[in-house]
Amino acid sequence: MQIKKICCIGAGYVGGPTMAVIADKCPNIQVDVVDLNEDRINKWNEKNLENLPIFEPGLAEIVSRCRGQNLHFSTAVSEKIRNSDMVFISVNTPTKKYGLGAGKASDLKWVEACAREVANNATGYTIVVEKSTLPVRTAEVIKSILEAAKKDSGDSFLKTFDVLSNPEFLAEGTAINDLLYPDRVLIGGDNFSAIDALSSIYSRWVIKEKILHTNIWSSELAKLTANAFLAQRISSINAIGALCEATGADVREVSRAIGSDSRIGSKFLDAGPGFGGSCFKKDILNLVYLCEYFGLDEVARFWESVVNLNNWHQTRISKLITKKLFGTISGKKIIILGFAFKGNTNDTRESAAIQICKDLINEGANLSIHDPKVTKYQIINDLGIKPIDQIKEENNLNEKGSWEFITDINESFFGADAIVILTEWEEYKNINWDLAEDRMRKPSWVFDSRSIIDPNSIKQNNFQFWRVGDGS
Ligand code: NAD
Ligand code: UGA
Repeated sequence: MQIKKICCIGAGYVGGPTMAVIADKCPNIQVDVVDLNEDRINKWNEKNLENLPIFEPGLAEIVSRCRGQNLHFSTAVSEKIRNSDMVFISVNTPTKKYGLGAGKASDLKWVEACAREVANNATGYTIVVEKSTLPVRTAEVIKSILEAAKKDSGDSFLKTFDVLSNPEFLAEGTAINDLLYPDRVLIGGDNFSAIDALSSIYSRWVIKEKILHTNIWSSELAKLTANAFLAQRISSINAIGALCEATGADVREVSRAIGSDSRIGSKFLDAGPGFGGSCFKKDILNLVYLCEYFGLDEVARFWESVVNLNNWHQTRISKLITKKLFGTISGKKIIILGFAFKGNTNDTRESAAIQICKDLINEGANLSIHDPKVTKYQIINDLGIKPIDQIKEENNLNEKGSWEFITDINESFFGADAIVILTEWEEYKNINWDLAEDRMRKPSWVFDSRSIIDPNSIKQNNFQFWRVGDGS
């Protein structure tokens, strides 16, 4: 079957970049990305490509090539589903906040809404592709909604569907590269011609050997498992980092030593402030929920400990900062460098910076927060605390700590007691330490949770220095 028209529901961190790459690689396919969020769609349609809703290296170039040609962004969800040969569901699947499975299970209400939307509006034969990360056996739910629509339409020849699972493995900050050069593309399903149709899209730029076919449940579960394994490595190395600090070992040396073992491999062994991002925590908790549901309590506890370790590690860092600053940070000025959950993205979801900043403010510190891509409004949203300029305007000062948003790091050095690096932005590698030393209050501290500062360059100045996992 030749796919001519694709619709993707969800113009987020996955839907946007994935469809942009498909449009770029398949000029003969019309790709419509639709979303209920009008503001987000307007940003995708912004003339000035710097204002796209998502920052990803290489994305703006692709959008500028394809937008208005075979790549379109709109809020016309039902209209664009009609006449599409293939519909990708790429909507959010956050952790449920209330009801059955609250705090662990994925909330599938957006996925279900999409399935109903497709059921109501599809015409003829449509291949429905699960792109969102979903609990194993979600395809069953989607299939039964689509089946009901087939019956409702009266004539089963008018509407027919196949459902495939095609989870996305891109990481933010490297999304375009990951999409262009994937380690693998995973397609789960039971209808060979539908699998073939989706494979033929990817095969325009991915070699056949890297396009894996599995049954639908394996595909759904493989996505959750991949994220659980990756997150487990980070919790493992952060746990060892804490032990390094206590024993005089250095976690970078330990990582290098174990990573040279080809069975372990060197990737994902960087100790940091704790993993963030929208998916690791939610996907592991979802896995925990599934294990509990199937009565596998020991398996559930094993995976849950990965998240528990991560939570502990984040609070460990804020406590450690307080301890090093003589046990009190009340009224002290601390510069926070980086708020995004990792470098090269404007995404702050589950960023370690959120918890660490909240803890420091609660201890009474006055934070000056910098991030090259995250906006002040996003930080207000994440912290749920107003910045000091707003509080002053409202004459609402209280005893607690505060925060301000800064754009000029050099100006913020005056009177600061500490600099805390939380995101590995390239520009933080080139801080003017002489200037910092001149302007900061003594003793001045640098806390490097990302190991991006050369300890020798810092030690030439008179800084007190802590970096994650360094017991030397
Ligand atoms: P996101 O929140 O950035 O985007 C989801 C979009 O879907 C939102 O813009 C929302 O408005 C839209 N939406 C929700 N319900 C809708 C509906 N009924 N009709 C139209 N639009 C609707 O989410 P994301 O980060 O792109 O993640 C999407 C899925 O992909 C999740 O399941 C996630 O686990 C998975 N995933 C994410 C990443 C990542 O790096 N962010 C990587 C791999 C997989
Ligand atoms: C992760 C996976 O890497 C993707 O394969 C997956 O598709 C995606 O989740 C998803 O399903 O959402 P992402 O969260 O974008 O991608 O970013 P990662 O590079 O995995 O980083 C996650 C967190 O771990 C970040 O906070 C990062 O700083 C941290 N990390 C990563 C470390 O602390 N140490 C490392 O060695 C690697």
